[in-house]
Amino acid sequence: MTVHFIGAGPGAADLITLRGRDLIAACPVCLYAGSLVPEALLSHCPQGARIVNTAPLSLDEIMAEIQSAHAAGHDVARLHSGDLSVWSAMGEQLRRLRDLGIPYDVTPGVPSFAAAAAALGAELTLPGVAQSVILTRTSGRASAMPDGETLENFARTGATLAIHLSVHVLADVQERLTPHYGPDCPVAVVFRASWPDQRIHRATLSTIDPKIGEGERTALILVGHALGAEDFDESRLYAGDYDRRYRPVGTSPRFPESA
Ligand SMILES: C[S@@+](CC[C@H](N)C(=O)[O-])C[C@H]1O[C@@H](n2cnc3c(N)ncnc32)[C@H](O)[C@@H]1O
Repeated sequence: MTVHFIGAGPGAADLITLRGRDLIAACPVCLYAGSLVPEALLSHCPQGARIVNTAPLSLDEIMAEIQSAHAAGHDVARLHSGDLSVWSAMGEQLRRLRDLGIPYDVTPGVPSFAAAAAALGAELTLPGVAQSVILTRTSGRASAMPDGETLENFARTGATLAIHLSVHVLADVQERLTPHYGPDCPVAVVFRASWPDQRIHRATLSTIDPKIGEGERTALILVGHALGAEDFDESRLYAGDYDRRYRPVGTSPRFPESA
């Protein structure tokens, strides 16, 4: 018996890995975080599967579901939105499973920041503009930010920011980032990336309307000069004169084909 943690992707039912889909189809028990996991994914569950929405359950209740599947020898598909490496609450579940000696594995998923970038048709790391992406959030009721992980500190790097769980405090984000990125810095807010009702707002730090964050909370705020930049260098990797292992160039290439 194994608990398979599966990244369910950002919303579109076909943005799950083939491995994730096949594991859902093979498990007689499916626990899914109902607030963001698309219900369409549940159609992959085998007939008669026990399917439980864990959104209203406590951690103890979720563990009780897993323990009863374990006692029955039933594999469990455990679905969380996006990828499991960020804001999935997987860490605390894995710790309990280790304590209980219950085996598990993890299948990655498409994270929401990648779906938002795809919706924008944007590369977040443009040569000479930004070479880092910071996935972050602001303090919430349930989670305070550790000292040092402030928007101001991240902004000082000039990296592209992908700010999660924060669209309801857009005015605050705008105020804190403007001194660092400047009022003309592009901002994009992507609501429900990849869902059928996806919406995109593009603006700058000075023109973004903070009220767009009222109501719908499933949104990512992307900030940085890479968004919408046209004046950036082409990558050296594909330059005609750039000598590399897969495309030796010149009379004495660094990586001769015979090597
Ligand atoms: C609890 S976190 C889950 C993050 C998820 N594990 C991931 O890989 O993206 C929920 C937050 O992720 C962002 N998010 C999740 N799905 C999204 C989507 N389809 N479009 C935009 N933002 C999304 C929002 O900021 C939302 O408040």
